[in-house]
Amino acid sequence: MATSRAASLLPIALLMCLAFAGGAGAERKTVGVYELKNKKGDFSIKVTNWGATLMSVIVPDSKGNLADVVLGYDTIAEYVNGSSYFGALVGRVANRVAKGRFVLDGKAYHLYINDGKNALHGGHRGFSKVIWTVKEYVADGDAPHITFFYHSFDGEQGFPGALDVYVTYQLSSPYDLSLRMNATALDKATPVNLVNHAYWNLGGHGSGAVLGHLIQVFASLYTPVDGSMIPTGEVAGVSGTPYDLRRLTPVGSRIGLVSGGGAVGYDVNYAVHGQGMTQVAFLRDPASGRAFELWANQPGVQLYTGNWLKDEKGKGGAVYQQHGALCLETQAFPDAVNHPNFPSEIVRPGGVYRHDMIFKFSS
Ligand SMILES: *[C@@H]1O[C@H](CO)[C@@H](O)[C@H](O)[C@H]1NC(C)=O
Ligand SMILES: *[C@@H]1O[C@H](CO)[C@@H](O)[C@H](O)[C@H]1NC(C)=O
Repeated sequence: MATSRAASLLPIALLMCLAFAGGAGAERKTVGVYELKNKKGDFSIKVTNWGATLMSVIVPDSKGNLADVVLGYDTIAEYVNGSSYFGALVGRVANRVAKGRFVLDGKAYHLYINDGKNALHGGHRGFSKVIWTVKEYVADGDAPHITFFYHSFDGEQGFPGALDVYVTYQLSSPYDLSLRMNATALDKATPVNLVNHAYWNLGGHGSGAVLGHLIQVFASLYTPVDGSMIPTGEVAGVSGTPYDLRRLTPVGSRIGLVSGGGAVGYDVNYAVHGQGMTQVAFLRDPASGRAFELWANQPGVQLYTGNWLKDEKGKGGAVYQQHGALCLETQAFPDAVNHPNFPSEIVRPGGVYRHDMIFKFSS
């Protein structure tokens, strides 16, 4: 989804100091990069506990050629500075909350405003801009995985109540990447909406626009938005609109007909078919043959086609431009907290939010 360039940058020097020195008395946290790799050695990811961020995903094509299929940076410092949310784990509430305001159990809450008049992606210092604790790390074997933990305090970025959050990245045979997220509300009811904000380009992260990728989104409804990207509250049919991706469609075929917040391209939330773990989308790059199915258990998915990317310096000297990747962010509906007709994103004290995603790669 579109990112605002207006957000002021974090005091990097201070953050890096916190990151590398650790707090006195607190559990020692060091920012690191962790790799998970399958036995054959042709499927691996890198993640960092800075923002529980997915930094790279390396998968083969049908000839065994490996490519890194997510956009990102070479160094943690660039992730700290970055405003595109490459691979980030976004929360406490990803996507937009209108005017950063909502009422819950009769009390009004005010979030950090960082996108025009609205709150975006958990605020100025959301979950993508904090240091997570590494709880468990198994680099290889049958099920390489890593679990990150973050304790969000009552009032953080304006959100009610303390929240314990876990995210596990895991590789499974043959080429499955799963993310399992849970969040427990400790003392107050709170909205929760975690997303993984990976930018996918199955031709390789520096290979140019994804307009030739074929996409399928298993949804017949979407949530139209107003000029500031806030849902109108309507849940509309995709039939007869450029949002209809129920059949395998080249990303570029009707992209010129849609825009989000003033930039050409898709930036839209779909209401996903089905309940529980269900297939949300399919993406294939005809040039390399690389593909994935995305499965998840969330009511929505945001399709964002990198509309705001421009001259962004990425990994290994790559420079990312508009439509150089796309995001499929399974999620609660945007601004659900202000729309009683949308599926609820409220977690009650003692209640547990669960969000599972699986990317099943093939070639
Ligand atoms: C920080 O981000 C800005 C804007 O995105 C960019 O122009 C600048 O080069 C970046 N600085 C570093 C040190 O990466
Ligand atoms: C959340 O996930 C972590 C890591 O897998 C697990 O240890 C914990 O029990 C889970 N919490 C709940 C409430 O399911």
